Amino acid sequence: MQSIQSVQAYRAGLLTFHADPAFAERAHAYYEDGLLIVENGKIAAAGDWANLHATLPPDTKVTDYRGKLISAGFIDAHIHYPQTEMIASPAPGLLPWLEQYTFPTERTFEDPAHAADVAEFFLDELLRVGTTTAMVYGTVHPQSVDAFFTASEARGLRMIAGKVLMDRNCPEFLRDTAEGGARDTEDLIRRWHKHERSLYAITPRFAPTSTDAQMHLTGELAKQYPDTYLQTHVSENEEECRWVKQLYPQARSYLDVYDSYGMLRPRAVFGHCIWLDDTDRARIAETQSAAAVCPTSNLFLGSGLFDFERADRAGMHMALATDVGAGTSFSMLQTMNEAYKVARLKGSYLPALRMFYLATLGAARSLHLEGTIGSLAAGNEADFVVLDPQCTPLLARRTAASDSLEEVLFALALLGDDRAIAATYSAGRLVHARGQG
Ligand code: GUN
Ligand code: ZN
Repeated sequence: MQSIQSVQAYRAGLLTFHADPAFAERAHAYYEDGLLIVENGKIAAAGDWANLHATLPPDTKVTDYRGKLISAGFIDAHIHYPQTEMIASPAPGLLPWLEQYTFPTERTFEDPAHAADVAEFFLDELLRVGTTTAMVYGTVHPQSVDAFFTASEARGLRMIAGKVLMDRNCPEFLRDTAEGGARDTEDLIRRWHKHERSLYAITPRFAPTSTDAQMHLTGELAKQYPDTYLQTHVSENEEECRWVKQLYPQARSYLDVYDSYGMLRPRAVFGHCIWLDDTDRARIAETQSAAAVCPTSNLFLGSGLFDFERADRAGMHMALATDVGAGTSFSMLQTMNEAYKVARLKGSYLPALRMFYLATLGAARSLHLEGTIGSLAAGNEADFVVLDPQCTPLLARRTAASDSLEEVLFALALLGDDRAIAATYSAGRLVHARGQG
């Protein structure tokens, strides 16, 4: 993908983070009348219009987004692209939902043409909601990952994805083998990891669907390729936790199963993390692993409520995530909306600024991609969204009556969805404009 060589400039409100608002006084910068300058697909500068506009080369076209707000693109730290078409499938909890809907749906990704078709639709949806990077599960079929990265690279996107590993407790038609899964994973790492903007994630589905042999080989791969990612599910649902206890009676906890195979390390991202104890939380923090927090999914399946306060006390890296198809929206704004309510039900409070941090720089830090994506810092890849606080009559009324940035962001999080995304840019290229597809 050719990046754009010229300078582009955007006039709008600008919001960017350089620290976590839960732990630092001045964690963000906000320029009410700001200017974002992009050069060769990277951010050259972000600041006040008054200070910066004189630095533009003569005749630079300035795109006028006044009244709107530019943020770094959203990062979704856990999502299943093959589950796009089965979003909103009713089932009484995780395990029946996997059996009734998920496994039969994932079977269809054996067909590369179908995988390619869904990958395109999925990427359209991500960009429509302002998500510029996602950590994505494929299916057990390596061709599902080839189809995904082929589609994401054609659009020039920074994406993380991997082939699901599962060799037991699933239908025969979705089963790999310990050796076959490891071989396919190595092939895919060689083909895609750090190819253009693609990054590979070693992807054991969850402890119940891998044999000891597969868990062992997966841990070996995680050690052999330390700059790849690793993604899996942990402590999502109580019935699942009881099952793991039966399958791995020697483990101290569900997370300890992964720990015992060497899977806790930087760039390992654990989905859900609801039923952890404080020892588990400390292990996630000290190994520089991260939690992907999936509130719409957890509420939908009745899995439980993530404990933000305990996660913060432990110093865990965390990022917000949709977990579509168990998640009920692709939108990170809607994900914030539900995260806010989950925090309230646990007796804690998530300011809007914190939620925007967790969907941008906090996620980039969780993925060890600070300095590449997640903020408007100079040198970062120019992945950003243009948010429209006036996108609906109700939001326009509410934000007209807002007297702080926090209130505007809160209204966007609680009331916004794809309609609030006026435009999405990736590496400085317009990849979505509202009303144009
Ligand atoms: N645990 C194992 N597989 C899955 C999945 O596809 N979705 C969710 N939410 N949890 C899982
Ligand atoms: Zn998931």
